[in-house]
Amino acid sequence: MVSKITVPMSSPDLTDAEREAVAAVLRTPNLSMGGEILAFEEAFRQFTGLRHAIGVNSGTAGLHLCVRAAYIGEGDLVITTPFSFVASANVLLFERAVPVFVDVDPLTGNIDPVLVQQAVQAFAQGGKAARQWLPHYGANEKNRLKAILPVDVFGQPSDIDPLYEIAQQYGLKLIEDSCESLGASYKDRKAGTLGDCGVFAFYPNKQITTGEGGVVVTNDDQAAAMMRALRNQGRAPGDTWLQHTYLGYNYRLDEMSAALGRVQMQRLDELLQKRGRVAAWYNQRLAAIPGVQVPQVVPQTTRMSWFVYVVRFAPGIDRDKVAQALGERGIPARPYFIPIHLQPYMVERFGYREGDFPITEDLGRRGLSLPFSSVMSQAQVEQVCQALQDIIG
Ligand SMILES: Cc1ncc(COP(=O)(O)O)c(C=O)c1O
Repeated sequence: MVSKITVPMSSPDLTDAEREAVAAVLRTPNLSMGGEILAFEEAFRQFTGLRHAIGVNSGTAGLHLCVRAAYIGEGDLVITTPFSFVASANVLLFERAVPVFVDVDPLTGNIDPVLVQQAVQAFAQGGKAARQWLPHYGANEKNRLKAILPVDVFGQPSDIDPLYEIAQQYGLKLIEDSCESLGASYKDRKAGTLGDCGVFAFYPNKQITTGEGGVVVTNDDQAAAMMRALRNQGRAPGDTWLQHTYLGYNYRLDEMSAALGRVQMQRLDELLQKRGRVAAWYNQRLAAIPGVQVPQVVPQTTRMSWFVYVVRFAPGIDRDKVAQALGERGIPARPYFIPIHLQPYMVERFGYREGDFPITEDLGRRGLSLPFSSVMSQAQVEQVCQALQDIIG
């Protein structure tokens, strides 16, 4: 129960430049598919150095387009993580593909490449070895492994190099869900640019926001052309407004959203730096509270792009009770994540049960996301940490 909220869970960071850019669109007749989406996409081409950026109306839409452009369809298997926001697995279900969940690294919460290697080898072998990776699902030889879909959890890039090698070796697509990691880097390479395609998302709690929105980035010309068509109701180049070569969607990003995102992108460094400062305040203050583990970053490979700030409690501390007590003090907090394989519709469809992915479940039980944004003040961080200290003490 959250009583009157005193520190918001998250807040967008907006200036008059953003407000004016949106208002300027409203003074034109072009509210969709005009100059702003082109400029927004250009900003992402520049930022990533990739050939294509395709603006869409959500990160989920972007991931779905990647799945469609990779021709992942009914019964196809995709290795992915159960420790994520549901969208990364849902986009597979949209196409009646089957997520093969693989457990995560306990430090980062990102998919464990060693387990991915084992799973891929098992599928290459087939039979009983493969079935072990889908314990409650009657996989058969018709089910073909098509792709790996890692997620950059909380703004920390996945350990991509080994995943890339596996994908190359076995002819699998690598779809990078970087919806939480805009601006992060892995071995000095930008998150989202490390697979066949990458997706960023811009809900208001994200590093930059468009209200709702996302973008797919890729160097794959064919996939990009397909995604552009599918985004726009399946219209291929040369189709008129009422001709539709493919079964597509309305995944277009409107001009107001694109204008907002364009200006936010100009401020990306500033926004990331402010988020980093808030995370550093938390890290410093929480070090003094026993039983609270601050987020773990792999220093050798990772430049973090802070999306959320998720602490883990030592065994013996009841995370849900802490969250409730924070709520009673007007401080919202969220369990992060509730494992995907334990969501009711996943249990119903695939028969997953508790114990299937022990590391994911452990992180899911102990993790709590605290209020976080670039506009948070040090005093607010202090308020949250003092409340935590009082509750745990
Ligand atoms: C890991 C991950 N994937 C996908 C998404 C989906 O993005 P959207 O909410 O824009 O559809 C999110 C959004 O929070 C996310 O965190």
